[in-house]
Amino acid sequence: MTRIFDEDQHSRFGTRAIHAGQRPEVLSGAIMTPIYTTSTYVQEGLGKNKGYEYARGKNPTREALERNVAALEGGTHGFAFSSGMGCTDSIMKLFKSGDHIVCGESMYGGTFRLFDKILKNFGLTFSYVDSRDAQRVADACRPTTVAIMMETPTNPLMRITDLSAVGEIAKRANARFIVDNTFASPFFQRPFEHGADIVYHSTTKYLNGHSDMVGGLAVVRDDELAEKMQFILNSAGAVPGAFDAWLVLRGTKTLHLRMPRHDENGRRIAAWLAEKIGHENVIYPGLESHPQHALAKRQMSGFGGMISILTGTREKAAKILGRVKVFSLAESLGGVESLISHPASMTHASVPVDHRNELGITDDLVRLSCGVEDVEDLLADLEHAFG
Ligand SMILES: Cc1ncc(COP(=O)(O)O)c(C=O)c1O
Repeated sequence: MTRIFDEDQHSRFGTRAIHAGQRPEVLSGAIMTPIYTTSTYVQEGLGKNKGYEYARGKNPTREALERNVAALEGGTHGFAFSSGMGCTDSIMKLFKSGDHIVCGESMYGGTFRLFDKILKNFGLTFSYVDSRDAQRVADACRPTTVAIMMETPTNPLMRITDLSAVGEIAKRANARFIVDNTFASPFFQRPFEHGADIVYHSTTKYLNGHSDMVGGLAVVRDDELAEKMQFILNSAGAVPGAFDAWLVLRGTKTLHLRMPRHDENGRRIAAWLAEKIGHENVIYPGLESHPQHALAKRQMSGFGGMISILTGTREKAAKILGRVKVFSLAESLGGVESLISHPASMTHASVPVDHRNELGITDDLVRLSCGVEDVEDLLADLEHAFG
């Protein structure tokens, strides 16, 4: 299993982003971690190897990425997967039939689909609660509760869960506290500081930041859990190829440069939208009008580039989606380029329509992933799209 280099813990975030987990390559001194495209490693003799046997279990490029993200999150061990969903699925393999998991009712549609359409059939049970109220999380715990899983801010409703309060609840319930930190990234939010046991990401998003691969990564901070995760990673095998691992590693080197710009653009665009269509129609935790702004400010050091807006009708949403030119109509988020999407028919299409409407993922909802372009161009694009 991949453990961080202890000395990486002592440097600041930007230095860690660039250097953590990586050392000059031994053969030539190459400063960049090579892309180790190998499935196996030649052994010196029976039972004698260099610590690598078969690439499903371990690959040096992947290890560098695992160490890097684990250090950024403030954890001790990292585990890279072939997608964010592969990562969630592997985390869930820690549990067994009859186990109960409490989750936030607002979450990425694919996570809900995995739980509701697949894992339920293997005997795991899930309770979905409005985790904006931590008491509801506590009330949903049962003797069989083994984990509490929260995504914060949520996709696409930007709901915030009080990580410290839920961390306490998980501790009292003797349950693992699992946090999807994809939207905030470790630059703006570090769930381990609030009691999380597992922090995970779709690395497809901000960590990679360039929309050129799909991946996931889980970080833990205790040896026993790390052993279990490595066993699952190697046994279930949802691992990324070396090139994809390298692309994320290249992305994290600029995470501390990209995130402030996503945040700056997000704030400017949210403020502009609030003026244009009313504060009540713009969902962005950085706006004082967001009902959980104070909590977001307390547990996040920035708000990022994700904004959702209520346009009023599906037709208005379609008009805006059809008129943008700098924003591209596409699923996903967190890349340097700005994207716009329609959650009800795209990322959250697998959530039953009644449930979607109850949550607030209505047909008029549009989600923006503000990239790092010049904000004036993004604002001009929206001005034209709103007509
Ligand atoms: C918050 C969140 N978690 C997990 C995932 C799943 O990640 P992936 O698409 O890399 O499988 C997504 C994808 O959009 C997401 O937004």
